[in-house]
Amino acid sequence: MALERTFSIIKPDATRRNLTGQVNAVIEAAGLRIVAQKRVRWTRAQAEKFYEEHKARPFYGELVDFMTSAPVVLQVLEGDDAIAKYREVMGATDPKEAAAGTVRKLFAVSKGENSTHGSDSAAAAEREIAMNFALHEIVG
Ligand code: RTP
Ligand code: MG
Repeated sequence: MALERTFSIIKPDATRRNLTGQVNAVIEAAGLRIVAQKRVRWTRAQAEKFYEEHKARPFYGELVDFMTSAPVVLQVLEGDDAIAKYREVMGATDPKEAAAGTVRKLFAVSKGENSTHGSDSAAAAEREIAMNFALHEIVG
């Protein structure tokens, strides 16, 4: 098992309902360490750039609207196999399909308003962390 870092977002549906601490408790209980964290309000340009791979998808506009509708909590998580482990901890994109005990089963409102984001590959994690954190902001 390799020590990895992944990028996480606690999304507006969760920050709006004051669930940051409850999401963090699930993350920490799974053995992932929050090594960087900041609460920000994204501009449209930031959300559009972050999700540019989804530009052609029908939900893109709705996704950008949602991600700029309230503050988000940006995080770097560290642990053994952190990228795959956090995808497991989050559960399926649609909470109706998410396994019991996952963040999305516990907290998500819908497939779009699904409480968290987690990088889906090592390349994505590297890109997403670099887009959102300076190296000195990450203290492992
Ligand atoms: P994420 O990237 O946020 O970790 O989620 P994911 O891989 O499970 O989902 P992805 O397919 O990458 O989609 C990115 C985000 O777009 C929203 N979405 N809405 N209404 C819809 O059909 C729909 N499909 C996706 C979700 O917020 C999803 O997390
Ligand atoms: Mg994704």
